[in-house]
Amino acid sequence: MKICCIGAGYVGGPTMAMIALKCHDITVTVVDMNAARIAAWNSGTLPIFEPGLDDVVKQARGRNLFFSTDVAGQIKQADIIFVAVNTPTKTYGVGAGRAADLRYIESVARTIAEHAETGKIIVEKSTIPVKTADAIKTIVASNSKGLKFSVLSNPEFLAEGTAVADLLNPDRVLIGGERTPEGEKAMATLAGVYARWVPRDRIITTNLWSSELSKLVANAFLAQRISSINSISALCEATGADVDEVANAIGKDSRIGPKFLKSSVGFGGSCFQKDILNLTYLCESFGLPEVAAYWTSVVGINDWQKQRFAARIVKELFNTVADKKIAVLGFAFKKDTNDTRESAAINVVRDLLAEHAKVSVYDPKVPAEEIRRDVLGKPSTGSGQEATDNPRLTVAKDAYEACAGAHAIAIVTEWDEFKTLDYAKIFAGMPKPACLFDGRNIVDLAALRKIGFKASGIGKPPGGRREGDVA
Ligand code: UDX
Ligand code: ADP
Repeated sequence: MKICCIGAGYVGGPTMAMIALKCHDITVTVVDMNAARIAAWNSGTLPIFEPGLDDVVKQARGRNLFFSTDVAGQIKQADIIFVAVNTPTKTYGVGAGRAADLRYIESVARTIAEHAETGKIIVEKSTIPVKTADAIKTIVASNSKGLKFSVLSNPEFLAEGTAVADLLNPDRVLIGGERTPEGEKAMATLAGVYARWVPRDRIITTNLWSSELSKLVANAFLAQRISSINSISALCEATGADVDEVANAIGKDSRIGPKFLKSSVGFGGSCFQKDILNLTYLCESFGLPEVAAYWTSVVGINDWQKQRFAARIVKELFNTVADKKIAVLGFAFKKDTNDTRESAAINVVRDLLAEHAKVSVYDPKVPAEEIRRDVLGKPSTGSGQEATDNPRLTVAKDAYEACAGAHAIAIVTEWDEFKTLDYAKIFAGMPKPACLFDGRNIVDLAALRKIGFKASGIGKPPGGRREGDVA
């Protein structure tokens, strides 16, 4: 069997590496039109940082895992074609800002129709709005060769930072297809691939639309838990309750469960916001404005949480941060990834720059150019004017450099190394009062206060005083 995956990104790369690792007899080729990305997959430095991925790729690459730019050639040879291209939020026209931009998906469907010489199973891996399979089917079916294609939905549930573990041991594999003999056969073929390492009872088959919708709904529910606990974090700060204690207490209820209740500066990543906006657009398109409004509020609370964090820094620094240095520790949207898409750090840094602060950012995995590009925007080509020239934004080589001389430290990503910094040394090099804002609740606020910091967390009682505390 030959598998081709179109799109060598965060989804396509790791997923195909795992299939190749587990199925020695299947040749897996990942193709992308981005030659630099393919070159990186073929090099010693993979284009994405993901714990454990280097090992998986090293074991399979050159044996039955290949990375190539020959999209047409690989389409011809493949029995199964995975589509893992990006589906960003539309920035123009109808649905701008919310609907998914399906131009990459459509272009892939047309490329498959043009180059395929035999019938194939086409698998949607990218997250897409419900009914996209219809569009793919129509495009490939209108190829003039009379070939038969089966279109399946097989959404990916891996989370970045834990992709390898998630792929090795998924909670479930979801496969949606048409309930016709050909559809059932295609689903069985794909299920047979996963069954090499995933227990059969974790491989679920549904109709196409349930599968497509389940991906959006899973992300919406996960994001909703974070917005729910983040909304409560504000109430905790106002009342003297501690959000981590509340999360622990409610999470013990087996109906609620303990996961995804970590209050933070706000969720980021390429999926949550995009998928909820996509879901709300879908609801409105189907005449369900009340459902759309419900889910829109999940994104609304997230935006508010990010603003609230930056506003609190300004307020605590006597309502002005102009010309004060602020160290921002962490820029990725979560730890153990170099991905910055929709990272809360972008909003926080922009808000602080808008208040004329001098912001020094440090992240262990995100390159300086990426940070500058995300915050300041992409330089427009030919303008002669680099958009990356705001002198108030600097990128430090380590946390100590970022914090030296800073009036305040803001922890925005929960990298482990920020838990064990020498905060006494850092404190000594800061003007006083020295403030620390923990946007991830990872450091020991009481210990920092002992050192002398004015330290605060998300949803934590101010100054460590708690109503219920025994004096
Ligand atoms: C998510 C889904 O988890 C995954 O199933 C889907 O395939 C893609 O989208 P991902 O975005 O990679 O994965 O990471 P995730 O771990 O879900 O974190 C998303 C954001 O929520 C991060 O910014 C993270 O820091 C934040 N988060 C997560 C919290 O603020 N609190 C939590 O309790 C959990
Ligand atoms: P994801 O996080 O969903 O994996 P990425 O943006 O990381 O998304 O990766 C998607 C990849 O798909 C990109 O590397 C992009 O170059 C590739 N891609 C998009 N359209 C096409 C296409 N028509 N042919 C080949 N590759 C494509």
